[in-house]
Amino acid sequence: MLQNIDLANLEFEAQLGTNCYGGHVCLFRNKKDKRSRRIVVKSIPYNSPDYAYQAVLKEHTILSQINHPRILRYFGFFQTEDSWNMLTEFAERGNLAKFLQRRSQRNEFLCQRSVMAKFADMAEALLYLHQRKVIHRDLKPENVLIDADNRLKLADFGIAKIFTNVVPEDQLNMTIVGTPLYMAPEVASGKPYDYKSDIWPLGIIFYELCMLEHPFVDNCLAIGKDGKERFVTPKIDCSGRGYLNDIQTLCEMMFQVDPKKRWTLEKILKHEPFIRLMKREM
Ligand SMILES: Nc1ncnc2c1ncn2[C@@H]1O[C@H](COP(=O)(O)OP(=O)(O)O)[C@@H](O)[C@H]1O
Ligand SMILES: [Mg+2]
Repeated sequence: MLQNIDLANLEFEAQLGTNCYGGHVCLFRNKKDKRSRRIVVKSIPYNSPDYAYQAVLKEHTILSQINHPRILRYFGFFQTEDSWNMLTEFAERGNLAKFLQRRSQRNEFLCQRSVMAKFADMAEALLYLHQRKVIHRDLKPENVLIDADNRLKLADFGIAKIFTNVVPEDQLNMTIVGTPLYMAPEVASGKPYDYKSDIWPLGIIFYELCMLEHPFVDNCLAIGKDGKERFVTPKIDCSGRGYLNDIQTLCEMMFQVDPKKRWTLEKILKHEPFIRLMKREM
């Protein structure tokens, strides 16, 4: 299934990155039609480890069923002598990690409107996934891409999971995958995945959009009155940045250690103060 892409005339333009399996992510364009849209090819060599192959199949299966403006569009795959190649649309402005890094180096904080616009893009994409029973499981700024219009698109579904309750002890829901710095506490402690496990990293990215640093650079545990360590919710400097206090509240709803208390996207997106935050022009 290749959607109207003239493979024979694709011409290499640039390398955008390397993927974690030793393959490349490269940009191509149609040499006969320079105005046609450019295409990104993510290649995974056949000699990659087995799990890489599984990841590609998974990514293919999931992306084939997904069609949403805030999720990187997938056009299909082709095979060569030595690799699997997945074709996607091009996100002109690269990934959100580099964006945050640039902003942080220049100390250029985002205004509330930009923070909320970016949050709304990610929330919309995740809601769409969750409603289709897909958990992303690897949300982090490297896997969020930015298009020419500065809108975000979720990418990298290599370890995403179609959630089923058919087999409760499903091993895949139990596998610890993802990136430690962005892992929800229940995942890090080996408990099963749930949709809520995607909300925690969304909270981290949200905090990073506000503060331009990871929330857990310092210790996130404090000793309570009972002498036990407890989690301290990171504080966004709302007054310093000119943000409303609802920004901190939103952050706290995502940073609930207990997944039962952590808000779902449905709940977040229906909560009047958060809707107002997303609508505000400043
Ligand atoms: N369609 C794209 N447009 C722009 N950059 C991309 C695109 N796909 C991937 N990249 C770049 O390549 C990096 C790795 O791609 P990704 O799909 O996340 O592969 P991996 O599974 O190796 O993490 C991304 O963080 C991004 O910087
Ligand atoms: Mg990635």
